[in-house]
Amino acid sequence: MTAKELRQKYLDFFKAKGHAIIPSASLIPDNDPTVLFTTAGMHPLVPYLMGQKHPGGERIASAQKCVRTGDIDEVGDATHHTFFEMLGNWSLGDYFKESAIKMSWEFLTSREWLNLDKNRLAISVFAGDEDAPFDQEAFAIWKSLGVPEKKIAKLPKKNNWWGPAGLTGPCGPDTEMFYWTGDEKETPDSFNDDPANAGWVEIWNDVFMQYNKTANGKYELLKQKNVDTGMGLERILAVMNGFGDNYKTDLFKNLIFKIENLSGKTYDDSPAITKAMRVIADHLKAATFIMGDDKGVAPSNLSQGYVVRRLIRRAIRYGRQLDIKEQSWTKEIAKIVAHDYTEAYPELQKNINWVIEQFNEEEIKFKKTLEQGLREFEKLKPKFSTIPVDSLSPKSGLIEYGLSGDDLFNLYATYGFPIELSLEEIKKIYSNFNAEKGITIPIVELTKDDEERLLHQFYESLKKHQELSRTASAGMFKGGLADASVATVKYHTAAHLLLAALRKVLGDQVVQKGSNITAERLRFDFAHKEKMTDQEKKQVEDLVNQAIKQNLSVACEELALADAKAKGAIGVFAAKYGQRVKVYTIGDSSASSEFPFSREICGGPHVETTGVLGNFKILKEESSSAGIRRIKAILE
Ligand code: SER
Repeated sequence: MTAKELRQKYLDFFKAKGHAIIPSASLIPDNDPTVLFTTAGMHPLVPYLMGQKHPGGERIASAQKCVRTGDIDEVGDATHHTFFEMLGNWSLGDYFKESAIKMSWEFLTSREWLNLDKNRLAISVFAGDEDAPFDQEAFAIWKSLGVPEKKIAKLPKKNNWWGPAGLTGPCGPDTEMFYWTGDEKETPDSFNDDPANAGWVEIWNDVFMQYNKTANGKYELLKQKNVDTGMGLERILAVMNGFGDNYKTDLFKNLIFKIENLSGKTYDDSPAITKAMRVIADHLKAATFIMGDDKGVAPSNLSQGYVVRRLIRRAIRYGRQLDIKEQSWTKEIAKIVAHDYTEAYPELQKNINWVIEQFNEEEIKFKKTLEQGLREFEKLKPKFSTIPVDSLSPKSGLIEYGLSGDDLFNLYATYGFPIELSLEEIKKIYSNFNAEKGITIPIVELTKDDEERLLHQFYESLKKHQELSRTASAGMFKGGLADASVATVKYHTAAHLLLAALRKVLGDQVVQKGSNITAERLRFDFAHKEKMTDQEKKQVEDLVNQAIKQNLSVACEELALADAKAKGAIGVFAAKYGQRVKVYTIGDSSASSEFPFSREICGGPHVETTGVLGNFKILKEESSSAGIRRIKAILE
């Protein structure tokens, strides 16, 4: 089955069930400043899920182009993509669980439609928690359709809850459909979320959007009960054709073929080659769709443009790995994308000349960057390439010879030479060195510690030197602390205040178990046995807000690890930063003070005084895993 047939079948089915078929919305969202791209079919429909009347009525279906960059590091395996199409159907206050599930089942299993083997399908439903009950209704409906109980897994929120798309908005429990892609004869007769059973692939998600998540973390019933379903076209197409690899479907085949031609290599030659070809195909397709949109965005250092730039440059880097010699080759991929998708997305063909120009210009710019950067990189070699040849144990040349992340930052700041390329060059030099010595055990290598140290120093310098808007968009490209946008720096400092407050309220046994920061919120995991009471949460919140109101200073000093510990600095992640560590003290600028509000070993960056943080609010406190609690909080 081709992508075109499948897309059409889906839309025909839902048309026959009384749905209005709407065209894909732009990849660049209209009224949502919190995200860069349309990430799901429901995204353009949010106002209607909230109760506005849709001109198409109460039953809607579409094939929507989507971009998600959160999983960019997973791209390269068989199933992850930055660009994908989502097939979806919606009930805007019309039908609910029973019809939604029955229609999904009919489309998947009836002879007339996809005709999938019922025995190879399994289901998951929401198990229930303090926010919403077990989805008994969905469970019973699946059973009534003949799905054996053993094949209906009851799973928690982390699996079977969807939304909101941003911080607040429509969301609800979902039920998911899985297909067994392993050997038919080995189809399991039961289903749970055991990752060992990797043969199960999620193919469709029916979300029962009956709640609105509010800014204070409450789940309110929505005015109307909605259904929001999503089925990734690339995945279901692979399933329909019996492929374990989405890149073998006709949505990628021609792209891979072209990359094989350009590189003179074959897709299956080695895992590294397969990965490189997948990344190139995925990224250049995504870049073509973003630039070829009617609201198309050119590569730049800002927002969506920065994502396009990253996608193209990353693809070019993988092209170098494949030894693609041709000049301006990226546009060749764009032409195929526009051609292959011309019926479904005619805007690509319409905008192709402009898109080609953008690819060419970006390629020239990046090529200059690379050449200049490589020349400069050569000059750094004396800093680390004199190797102690008589040593037989793997040994890093970096620490001994003083290459630092600042050097690599200078390469980046002055010549735009990406840190990833610097690291690759170092690895190359080391592996050449080892090869020259003619032995298989490496004498020198870039150790994980060194790599982390370099990255850490690099991002420290980045924070100091770069204008903020640019790094802010880097943060949107990939969450976490890698960027130093104003918002994430604030959340980082808030995390220190939070840990200190938790220890004051719950006791010193509380240690941090992890954190995840975006420009919009803070997620913080810590070891603690019980659920926090409302009073405890309030105390913690108040302590943090007091510290903010007092506008405490944040001081940083560099100490030997032992000295830092002696001063009472806490920090479980200390070891990886090596011998000398940075200690951030909040609350008393004299570093000798015995009782500052907080003292932590940490790489930073942080704000200078706490007054800039605004109001701190805990949205949620929940269990993360056994003995670990998780807090979600925002700064307002
Ligand atoms: N919004 C849900 C998802 O993205 C269903 O469409 O999976």
